[in-house]
Amino acid sequence: MEIINRRQRMSSVARKIRREQDRTIGLVPTMGALHEGHLSLVREARRMCDIVVVSVFVNPTQFGPSEDFEHYPRDLTKDTAVLTDYNVDYIFAPSAEEIYPKDFSTYVNVEGLSEQLEGASRPNHFRGVATVVSILLNTIRPDFAFFGQKDAQQALIIRRLVRDLAFDTEIVVLPTVREDSGLAISSRNLYLTAAEQQAGSVIHRALAKAKESYKKGERHAGKLAELVRNTVETEPRFRVDYVSVVDAETLERLDKIEDRPILIAVAAYIGKTRLIDNTMLSKAKKDSSVAKA
Ligand code: PAF
Repeated sequence: MEIINRRQRMSSVARKIRREQDRTIGLVPTMGALHEGHLSLVREARRMCDIVVVSVFVNPTQFGPSEDFEHYPRDLTKDTAVLTDYNVDYIFAPSAEEIYPKDFSTYVNVEGLSEQLEGASRPNHFRGVATVVSILLNTIRPDFAFFGQKDAQQALIIRRLVRDLAFDTEIVVLPTVREDSGLAISSRNLYLTAAEQQAGSVIHRALAKAKESYKKGERHAGKLAELVRNTVETEPRFRVDYVSVVDAETLERLDKIEDRPILIAVAAYIGKTRLIDNTMLSKAKKDSSVAKA
């Protein structure tokens, strides 16, 4: 396994793999602090692709001024040790200057999908995500790139970005990985005490209740949202930021649920930590969550 810090070196290594060796490349973009959620993506990349690249970059442009950029967990040594066990070929770990050189001034904005849900609470977040993902895709030109369904809006935005800007990469979205308690695994769970992590399972329970109610025939979006909110708020440590019931493809808000896939997305604070989670409702499909491997 090689750790690459320079964009130019990453590009030329990837070019060689594609052209001279005719092998497929899978990219798993991360901000480090690797956990089971990331590792499920790495496993699938390893299964599907000849060469696996994991990028580790805490992207400054996707954090708001009062968010946790400074405190975001960083431990490249530990991440490298974990990835060695997963037979990863390259870690791309550039500095901020390498990705955003002096006078950087080009940003990517996926309009229409970026302003609601997470975008309403975190202005410019998805502009930062879409920009860095575009840079990573252009640098590496992977055949496949892997993302988690836990960040459902991000996955939708990246699919749209790849389609609109004609990137030659297939986006693979894999199920949310959960703790035994049901809490969706996230790097930010590191901020939580053991008791808070346990309390965090209420979000998944709330989504499961809404799903059950939908299965029993509830089609009023407001009622499902209220059920989720009220259930999360039974845990006094939580403050709900939003619960949204939206069309799973357009993220349009709905009043009455018609016969099409629906996303229920939640964001809630426990102390200063903001957790997100979601579930899909559809007549045909099952929920895309798995328990920790
Ligand atoms: O999901 C993440 O960890 C980040 O948003 C991503 C896709 C690596 C871009 O910085």
